[in-house]
Amino acid sequence: MNIEALKVFKESGEKITCLTAYDASFASVFDTCGIDIILVGDSLGNVIQGDKNTLDVSMSDMIYHMQAVAKGTQNALRIADMPYQSYIYAEQTLANAKRLITAGAQMVKLEGGCEHEDSFRILQDNSISVCGHLGLQPQSVVEIDGYRVQGRGKQGANKIIKNALALASWGVKVIVLECVPAELAKQVSKSVSIPIIGIGAGLDCDGQVLVSYDMLGVHVRHVPKFVKNFLTDNGDVKSAVNAFIKAVKDESFPSKKYSY
Ligand code: KIV
Repeated sequence: MNIEALKVFKESGEKITCLTAYDASFASVFDTCGIDIILVGDSLGNVIQGDKNTLDVSMSDMIYHMQAVAKGTQNALRIADMPYQSYIYAEQTLANAKRLITAGAQMVKLEGGCEHEDSFRILQDNSISVCGHLGLQPQSVVEIDGYRVQGRGKQGANKIIKNALALASWGVKVIVLECVPAELAKQVSKSVSIPIIGIGAGLDCDGQVLVSYDMLGVHVRHVPKFVKNFLTDNGDVKSAVNAFIKAVKDESFPSKKYSY
């Protein structure tokens, strides 16, 4: 899997599948099942470290988990999250992104839009592939006072569209769009030529991502409406992952029940 293939997926209408992984064993199962992208998400702060949010995840944590996931992955594209406060200014962003690439990432993910223009630009100038993250940005959960749907009003929706256009113009290759009304996600996906991977963003995105622990029903925290447990009806982890991939590809997930 590579960036060119993702673009072809978008053009042809084939949906892109993505799951988070934090270790070699899960990464290997997802990879063998044929997942398109494995995201080493800073959601590891929630599901591995048991924290309420992702703010305490460090660069060392991300590097450790990225190295493990790289050992279990052969085909899927590997994306690593840049953790909270690891991309405040451009030079710091570049240095930290290089550490994640050395650890095995093929792309790094940053939350936010225009406020990080310098960071996005320096990565592009240094040929580091970047994934954006708009809508609900878990690293801003304190500022926005909790995990809530974003982009409901006109102003909020316009801001997300403006940021998506800006990211695409700065060479960002993929955008994760989290927890927004399905209609807005459809509009964003139509506005840019790069793939939009939704989570809680409805059916009309170019692909879907879920936190793997959530889709396997393993949690220590409240699970949002957009999460479907794929293990319940499928018996074992491999079958659950295959069911997720099939449901995303045949567009039966996420149905309205899992959308806003
Ligand atoms: O950290 C993560 O797992 C993520 C997903 C919610 C997309 O960013």
